[in-house]
Amino acid sequence: DKVYRSGEIIRRSEAAVDIEDRGFQFADGIYEVVAIWNGSPFRLEEHLQRLMRSGRELDFNMPDIGWIKEECSDYLEEINCFSGDRDSYLYIQVSRGVSPRSHAYEDGLEPEIIMYARELEPKPEEYFSRGVRAILLPDERWSRCYIKSVALLPNVMAKKKAKKAGAYESILVRDGFITEGTSSNVFIVEAGEVITPPATNYILNGITRRAVLEIAEKLGFKCSRESVSRQRLLAADEVFLTGTTTEVMPVVEIDEFEIGEGSPGEITSRLQEEYWQLCR
Ligand code: PDD
Repeated sequence: DKVYRSGEIIRRSEAAVDIEDRGFQFADGIYEVVAIWNGSPFRLEEHLQRLMRSGRELDFNMPDIGWIKEECSDYLEEINCFSGDRDSYLYIQVSRGVSPRSHAYEDGLEPEIIMYARELEPKPEEYFSRGVRAILLPDERWSRCYIKSVALLPNVMAKKKAKKAGAYESILVRDGFITEGTSSNVFIVEAGEVITPPATNYILNGITRRAVLEIAEKLGFKCSRESVSRQRLLAADEVFLTGTTTEVMPVVEIDEFEIGEGSPGEITSRLQEEYWQLCR
């Protein structure tokens, strides 16, 4: 049960966080979640690039990406992740660092980096085969959602609301247009065309989102990055979610409205299949 903390691989029980860690006190931290299928991390490079970007945007004193990649490899090797006998998620978090509590950070703080892999608990197969429900909620987050920050309270509260409503995900709405899910991106299918909101500052540009767009384009589907209003979402032929932990998941009901025929659409199922071919 080993974890990585700033240069060391130690037992989980020994991996304490300083009470003045800024990630802990101010949510002054960033993170990535990477899926490891059959011993191979899915698009690790893209995740690390996004981590670097999040760090740059927040003025973190980020280490070199090559160094992080090596630390990551060494850790995965150490815990025998590459053997591929179990699928897992790798969690990577970088906090700005540790210093006496003060809102304005000191320059040049040494970031704290933690990494650990956790065996993936498979989701119920019917989520993928029969689809899930979602609810709509106002997007109450700040306007820099392209940064993958650990400041996730709005997401946490919205996800819990979904759970309480017996739904898998909350789809967030800002000014009448959908942005994304609390931990996933949203796609619709309209007359055979695959549509997803553009990667503005209001969404996280998911690695899975990009992979699915690539797949859809390769299969010859027309793809658009366009704003999607609430009404347009509800009237879509198909709706699905994408994400590292969500994969490609059909949505068959939103609030009290049935989507399409109330079962996963043909194009969604095709993209789901191709996505699994690519990563699993
Ligand atoms: N969440 N949008 C948000 C707000 C997210 O938190 C995530 C991922 C995504 C999908 O991104 P990707 O395809 O790169 O995983 C979109 C991770 C999995 C999490 O917080 O657990």
